[in-house]
Formats: sequence, C-alpha cells, structure tokens
Amino acid sequence: MAHITAGVGCSHVPAIGVAMDTQITEQPYWVPVFEGFEASRDWMKKANPDVIFLVYNDHCSAFDASCIPTFALGCAPEFKPADEGWGPRPVPVVKNHQKMASHIAQSLILDEFDITIMNEMEVDHGLTVPLSVMYGDKGPDDEWPALVIPLAVNVVQYPAPTGNRCFNLGRAIRRAIESYEEDLNVVIFGTGGMSHQLQYKRAGLINREWDKQFLDRLTLDPVGLSKTPHVEYLREAGLEGVEMVMWHVMRGALDEEVTEVHRHYHVPASNTAVGHIILENTKDRIAAE
Ligand code: DHB
Ligand code: FE
Repeated sequence: MAHITAGVGCSHVPAIGVAMDTQITEQPYWVPVFEGFEASRDWMKKANPDVIFLVYNDHCSAFDASCIPTFALGCAPEFKPADEGWGPRPVPVVKNHQKMASHIAQSLILDEFDITIMNEMEVDHGLTVPLSVMYGDKGPDDEWPALVIPLAVNVVQYPAPTGNRCFNLGRAIRRAIESYEEDLNVVIFGTGGMSHQLQYKRAGLINREWDKQFLDRLTLDPVGLSKTPHVEYLREAGLEGVEMVMWHVMRGALDEEVTEVHRHYHVPASNTAVGHIILENTKDRIAAE
C-alpha cells in the first residue's frame, strides 16, 4: 500500500525562485536563506519519495475572481509552470501520478470532502518554489525526481478554509493515500507563509515569536494549533500569514507522534519570514533504523 512517511512545511517566497533562476544565490543577502535548505536537499535524496502530495496556493494564475474553489485537486497528466508576468519559471513541467490522484479524488469525495477536480491547470510560484528549494536547481529539460499531486487551497480570496477543516482534510488525504494499492513512498508538503503582509498600512509585518510558536506547536500540539482562528493569523502573522492554514493539511496527514528532523527560519526574504520544517512519523523513523 502507499504510505505517508513524512511532512515538509515550506515558504514559497517568489523572490527565492527568481534568485535561483537568475543564479544570484551566492549573494550575501541570499546565502543564509539557502544555507538552511542544504540539509533539506540531503534529506530529500535519502527520503526519495515516489510521490509528493503538495498542498499549495495559487496566486491568481490558474484561478481568478471568476472561479474560486476552496480545495482543487490536480488530476491532469502534467502541470506547466504558469507565466506570472515575467515568463514561466525555467523549471521542469510537474508530472502527476494520475491514477493515484483519481483514487484520492474518489476517496475524498466519498469521504465527504467535496474537492474540485482539475483536469487542466498551470502552477505558479506557490508550487514551484517549494520544489526548487527542496530539490535544488532543475532546468526545463530536467525532470523533478518525484511525481507530484497538487492540491490548491484558496487563501487569497475571503473566506479561506479554517485550520480545523484543513487538518481534517489532511486526515482524509491520509486515508485516501493509504488505501491506494501500489507500494509507494509519499511525502506531503504544506506550503506558504510564514508571517508576512504585502499590502496597506502594516505591509512588511513580520512576527518572529508567533512564527516560532507555530513551528514548535506543529510537532507537539497540532490539534490545538489547528484551532487557531483566522483573525489571529491576520492580527499576528499579517494578511498573507493566513497561508499558514495549508500547513495543517500536511500535519493532519501525519501520525500524532512525529519527530522534527530539521528546521530553518530566516528573516528577511523579500517581504516575508522564510520558515521550513521537516517532520517524520516517529514510528516510520524507528522502523527505518
Ligand atoms: C511575496 C510573498 C508571497 O507569499 C507571495 O505569494 C508573493 C510575494 C513577497 O514576499 O514579496
Ligand atoms: Fe503567497
């Protein structure tokens, strides 16, 4: 059977993608941002997932105000990088595990999570930047080392789903993946955040303390953390900080007991705090030893 062994939480700051694409990662501003992903890239080689279930948000690239699905599952054979105004990122096309994605769609809907099925979709920095930081430089003629099943969550247009809903969706995703017959190693990503506000009077807001307690509680108090109300994200982590609800989907898909194997936190990258964590199911860690 397919099995989820680990979860990755990761910011998606678009400027990180630009820094990689224009090869300026060695500049002093960027060095501390990328240093924190060196251990992650080694970890990815070792974890070597067959499939990444990648929870992310679209930024008006695939969707606009004409259609706002709360949860949209990528069921197309592949997903091309979107043109976000300066041409598509020069990274590989994302290839799906289409059979598993269809199984997940069926399982979720019959489990009463009525997600939208996307049979055509382009993916923006919300999905490609986490892949880039975790796998390192890959050009358009390369392939991502894993197949990727994307789940787009609306956190751009009010109302976003609650953290609790996201956490429970994570549990349902686990049931879906772990009822898929093929023996596959799956890693789930929750992306976006951390604290940041891009607009209006509080633009530039960063809250290190809040970010730190979010990362701490993700391991030890995931259910309590998932009950955080929207207004707290807006107040403490800024308007765009609400992207953090997507991390609860990842956490909900893991065991109650996880081990934090890596953490990286750095300010600033563009207008945001960069946050990153790797959690392994403790049971799977012990079994692998
Ligand atoms: C920035 C951050 C984001 O999460 C995003 O989607 C767009 C821009 C920024 O820091 O500039
Ligand atoms: Fe964003």
